[in-house]
Amino acid sequence: MSSNRELVGVILAGGSGSRLHPCTKVTNKHLLPIGDMPMIFYPIKKLVGAGITDIMIVTGTEHMGDFISLLGSGKDFGCRLTYRVQDEAGGIAQALALCERFVNGDPMCVILGDNIFQESISSMTTTFMDDLQNAYILLKEVPDAERFGVAELANGVITNIIEKPSTSPSNYAVTGIYCYPPDVFDIIRNCRPSSRGELEITDVNNAFIKAGRLRYTSLNEYWSDAGTFPSLAKANELVRTQPVEF
Ligand code: DAU
Repeated sequence: MSSNRELVGVILAGGSGSRLHPCTKVTNKHLLPIGDMPMIFYPIKKLVGAGITDIMIVTGTEHMGDFISLLGSGKDFGCRLTYRVQDEAGGIAQALALCERFVNGDPMCVILGDNIFQESISSMTTTFMDDLQNAYILLKEVPDAERFGVAELANGVITNIIEKPSTSPSNYAVTGIYCYPPDVFDIIRNCRPSSRGELEITDVNNAFIKAGRLRYTSLNEYWSDAGTFPSLAKANELVRTQPVEF
């Protein structure tokens, strides 16, 4: 099914950035440089490159002013930016829930602000817009999957996702790039905080799996998060040697 609904973008750029202290003591992780741009430029340009021009950015209270000073209305990127404050880092799903009024019944593409990756998201968003019944996630085969949400696969279908398992059931990390139909907000309302006190995006994705409504595609080119010193350095090196496609 496809509809006349517009695909909107959400970038989640809150969180405490504690793994990057002291560099994130007086600024936000997503304002740190990757290559020759602040980290937050990458998800914005990825969304715009896929034709998405209405984008909400969620971040905490401390540095919201810096985001607005840096990004303004979005006109330099060819998009319209809307900002929303997440008062406390209560989890990725909590940050997404704050976007319900902005999304207003449209399908959405969500990117975690610290995900740096090479290829365009256009093929995923096109597949999603031709469907709209199901949620889509992007997987990436990595050597250290236990640092992430990890997908269990059987016959090409995701049967479960485990958040940071002690032993990985596969090498497939769940990247922070998701397409959701608007009823994702009903699913989040039914989620409860995890043992670390956060509303987990993995619980949301597992609810879609239970309903038989989670699909995936895989990234072929590089992908990294940038939330730790080693991964921040790795993301910088990747971007320097192999330019990102927007
Ligand atoms: O990068 C992919 C991974 O991201 C996934 O494999 C995991 O399933 C997912 O839980 C997440 O894991 P992390 O431990 O890396 O999440 P982190 O707390 O670092 O948050 C990632 C981004 O989400 C961060 O750049 C900002 C945003 N965020 C996070 C939290 C906790 C928010 O906007 N608000 C929040 O409260």
